[in-house]
Amino acid sequence: MKKVVIIYWSGTGNTESMAAAVMEGAKIEDTNVRLLSVGEAKIEDVLEADAVAFGCPSMGAEQLEEAEMEPFIESISDAVKGKDTILFGSYGWGNGEWMIEWQERMEQYGAKILVEGLIVNNMPDDEGLDKCKRLGEILAKA
Ligand SMILES: Cc1cc2nc3c(=O)[nH]c(=O)nc-3n(C[C@H](O)[C@H](O)[C@H](O)COP(=O)(O)O)c2cc1C
Repeated sequence: MKKVVIIYWSGTGNTESMAAAVMEGAKIEDTNVRLLSVGEAKIEDVLEADAVAFGCPSMGAEQLEEAEMEPFIESISDAVKGKDTILFGSYGWGNGEWMIEWQERMEQYGAKILVEGLIVNNMPDDEGLDKCKRLGEILAKA
């Protein structure tokens, strides 16, 4: 059975809604999908998975959330080598720069980025949630 894990940080729930929709999309036959907040996640969760999705909103000044997500992403730099990976997150007033930099960073770690990181302004609407579900499908079928 294919193993998919979705690991996210969310302060006000927008990226969490995206993560739940990614999970919904990934729940296809013969796929074991787990949804973990970054506080619950361990490096082993990434190592054991066939495909991973990471979600984090734009924080700081176009940065990953610094207390939990930033150190976690640093810690999985070796674990994502060659791994099918998808990134997503919500943003407020910016231009999505954090996602571009995050994706470049993951590529430098050797992650196999399946599609361009999905960014959604604030709370995802129905169209945003559909895009998240499609990400989940791509992840499960990779
Ligand atoms: C401390 C802080 C810093 C933020 N910095 C940015 C930023 O640099 N660029 C941006 O587009 N949005 C920024 N935002 C807005 C969040 O990305 C936006 O509210 C997002 O929807 C939050 O997602 P969440 O509900 O998953 O926490 C910031 C929000 C906070 C609280």
